[in-house]
Amino acid sequence: MYYTIKWNGDSVSMLDQRLLPMEEVYRTYPNYHDVAEAITDMVIRGAPAIGIAAGMGIALAAKKMEASDVASFKKGMEGVFTVFGKTRPTAVNLFWTINRMRGIMEGKNDIGEIRQSLEAEAVRLLEEDVKINRQIGKNGARYLDDGDVVMTHCNAGALATGGYGTALGVIRAAVEEGKRIEVYACETRPYLQGARLTAWELLKDDIRVTLITDNMAGYFMRAGVVKKVVVGADRIAANGDTANKIGTYTHSVLAREHGIPFYVAAPLSTLDPATPDGGAIIIEERGIDEVAYFAGIQVAPEGVFVKNPAFDVTPAANITAIITEKGVIEKPAGKGIAEFF
Ligand code: MRU
Repeated sequence: MYYTIKWNGDSVSMLDQRLLPMEEVYRTYPNYHDVAEAITDMVIRGAPAIGIAAGMGIALAAKKMEASDVASFKKGMEGVFTVFGKTRPTAVNLFWTINRMRGIMEGKNDIGEIRQSLEAEAVRLLEEDVKINRQIGKNGARYLDDGDVVMTHCNAGALATGGYGTALGVIRAAVEEGKRIEVYACETRPYLQGARLTAWELLKDDIRVTLITDNMAGYFMRAGVVKKVVVGADRIAANGDTANKIGTYTHSVLAREHGIPFYVAAPLSTLDPATPDGGAIIIEERGIDEVAYFAGIQVAPEGVFVKNPAFDVTPAANITAIITEKGVIEKPAGKGIAEFF
């Protein structure tokens, strides 16, 4: 059995998702700088998993930080928070975790106690996340029917979380209820999370999965094959607008055109009441090689201009329901996420 991330007491281990599905390699990071770099380089990715990795990196930094007094220790930790805050800007779970870890330090004046509390909190982040995903799954499974073909984009599964997954958690829960579900996994250009990761983890679970390229989505929707769409989220703004992997917006427009329900599954830590709408969400721009190269092979001429926004925003109007561990917001357009805050 594989795991996404593990706390070892004095280091953090992660499955290197850059190498999947060809190789299953675990990497162990004994210091926080390397954990931050692993997030930026996408050794680990997916909003909840990024949050957990940051939490563990912060706990690691606290353990190893040398400080003569608590004031300089806390100042040093602020520097650590800044490092993690710069790793990936769109996934709000990252900032949610940083705030949670900062909150743990508040009012404490003993360095040893702070270190212990941060470590306990990092472990709790991972354990809680799996429970949350199972609850999201329970809350969402009723929207999937026996025999459904469910399309998903990117990877919002066990690999993107502490385990079980959000969008794939909903699918797993429906399968556990005995429903026959087939997943259409969109390839997810340019980084291929769908082809490499979603296909890999669903096959491991014996859930029937068919790989399609992103531009086949409309074809299969129009043909009546795709019955539902379930995706994850990196940040859900106060009005319900949702940032997720680039291409999600296109699928939402197609789903709407074809009258196909479009669900977003995410933990409360992905809900961001401080961001009013999708226009205020910072979209990460990644390196051009992800687009100009395909699986390491150059596919575009040298010198061409390339764009690589990693996320797009699906307007709340295109979302049938937002499924969380606390409950479901049906038709979020017009009411947003206020009922949960
Ligand atoms: O760039 P990634 O792979 O981190 O993007 C991941 C996604 O867009 C996921 O759909 C999202 O983080 C939800 S993961 C439960």
